[in-house]
Amino acid sequence: MISSLPSEKDSMGKTLYNYQGSWYYPNTLQAILNYRKHFRARDTYIILASFPKSGTTWLKALVFAVVHRNKYAPNLVSHPLLSDNPHNLVRFLEIDLYVKNQHPGLEELPPPRLFATHMPFQTLHESLRDSPCKVVYVCRDIKDVLVSRWHFISRLVKKEELYSNYPVEEMVEKFIKGAYSFGPFQDQVLSYWKESSVNANLVLFMRYEEMIEKPEAQVMRLADFLGCSFTEEEKQSGMVEKILELCSLGNLSNLEANKTGTFTCGIAHHAFFRKGGVGDWKNHLTNEMARKLDEMVEKKLEGSGLKFE
Ligand code: A3P
Repeated sequence: MISSLPSEKDSMGKTLYNYQGSWYYPNTLQAILNYRKHFRARDTYIILASFPKSGTTWLKALVFAVVHRNKYAPNLVSHPLLSDNPHNLVRFLEIDLYVKNQHPGLEELPPPRLFATHMPFQTLHESLRDSPCKVVYVCRDIKDVLVSRWHFISRLVKKEELYSNYPVEEMVEKFIKGAYSFGPFQDQVLSYWKESSVNANLVLFMRYEEMIEKPEAQVMRLADFLGCSFTEEEKQSGMVEKILELCSLGNLSNLEANKTGTFTCGIAHHAFFRKGGVGDWKNHLTNEMARKLDEMVEKKLEGSGLKFE
């Protein structure tokens, strides 16, 4: 089935396949097919969705801390986020759980069960049908996503090799063309935006930039959506701020658990933490590159009501 799909070679000669409008390497696609065949959402499931480099790690940490706050107070020295990487606490469906296993034993995990995905909504949703489970999507400006991805790859391959062999221009071209792992970005963002507009109980659409700008308000919005709003007493006691501090880039990136070790697919934990924030693209992209990327996204989102500043 996979080999019959439209394909493209990436810059390293590896084949990407197009499935339901999105591009994947074969092992990820096989895991997606496993997911689609065997996953059935339960009411208590929470799925965190994102395009890679949009703030997935942060969202995983925040949601874990929010939904488990009665079990693990955010100021506890034994909080799981202090001793484990967020990607091990909230595991990806298609790049972790379903990669080598058609039945990864999701029922054995304690509720509420949290999962993550980079699949677009159209590929995720059939297995969710008729379930009141929750999906939280986080998106980020394409230019910061692109620059973050470029740096991320530099942490996976030898740094000098990347900077001489993989110029940022090539990444921009790839984004414009659309054939890159989990791309095109704008199609995925639109898939979740549309669903959040018609089915606000199922999909909460969040933006990394708003989380940076008004973190307290966004965490409270998240908790409201997940059905575990902060009580007045919790707000008075500084619970929201404690969760934000626990999940901050500064705190997480300095933990031994995140400075060392690797995620199941072999990526070093530390590669998920860099600079954070908004607008680092200005240090790496020309105005012309930025214009091309913005125009492409605007064109796709035209008429949808979603805009990037
Ligand atoms: P930068 O490369 O721009 O620094 P993802 O988690 O989807 O892979 O996204 C990674 C991006 O989110 C990186 O952006 C990383 O630094 C940033 N990030 C990771 N943890 C964060 C946190 N706790 N708060 C804010 N940003 C975070």
